Amino acid sequence: MDPPAEVRAWCQAARRPCVLSGAGMSAESGVPTFRDTPRSLWARFDPATLATPEAYERDPALVWAWYQWRTHLVRRAQPNEGHVALARWARSRPELRIVTQNVDDLHERAGSPEVIHLHGSLFAARCVACGRPPSQPLASLGDDGPPPLRLPPPTCAACGGLLRPGVVWFGEALPPGPWQAALDAVTRCDLLLVVGTSGLVHPAASLPAQALARGVPVVEINPQPTPLSPLASRVWRTTAAVGLPQLLPD
Ligand code: OAD
Repeated sequence: MDPPAEVRAWCQAARRPCVLSGAGMSAESGVPTFRDTPRSLWARFDPATLATPEAYERDPALVWAWYQWRTHLVRRAQPNEGHVALARWARSRPELRIVTQNVDDLHERAGSPEVIHLHGSLFAARCVACGRPPSQPLASLGDDGPPPLRLPPPTCAACGGLLRPGVVWFGEALPPGPWQAALDAVTRCDLLLVVGTSGLVHPAASLPAQALARGVPVVEINPQPTPLSPLASRVWRTTAAVGLPQLLPD
């Protein structure tokens, strides 16, 4: 299916576009989403035992092993055609901002500068006690055998505290710098593309409404309906890797 002509024209004309991406952005790279299929993470795993500060306090080795497994999946994944199309677009639109809820690094590996990570990163472990990053690169999981169910987190070289994944857990606030950067991007943009997010997790899910309130066109790119669909200026039922290369000018 061709992209809606009007949306193509908006993409051509935009000088300060903004993209809000979610797990669907990386789905065609083989990174699991959270909610939309029976293979999605929250259909297979309980977030209360893996993605809260209390879960980490209770069983740090279980939580650390699960994030090491996810990190391993991401390391083996490659950016898809959607990530590549966005990075290409950024070359002619230096003011393009990508705001992502994803904790992978696929936008960066495709070549996008200025990626704002609202939910942190799998590659930004820090000490629970002093907040410092690890002094040495962390060992990664190998390819052989099933992933371990438990792995004790490494300790901080500076203070001996445990390292934790650098992601935002349920019940935690977003990192203030990225959140402010996201608000600035949405406040300045002249087009917002919302790609591959269920729009269920706040405050990220509130960003499209802010652009709409300013009269800025908001385009949803998602194969499935979401709560944003009835509000968006246009919806294109396609996937990130299929749709974005057709939509975005070189
Ligand atoms: P979800 O798993 O909730 O939603 C994924 C969305 O992507 C769904 O609307 C799918 O229809 C859509 N989708 C699937 N495949 C796609 C494709 N190939 N192209 C485009 N869209 C596709 O993921 P998020 O909305 O990102 O938070 O979830 C938001 C947050 O909830 C995550 O950042 C995570 C999770 O709990 C934290 O971990 C803090």
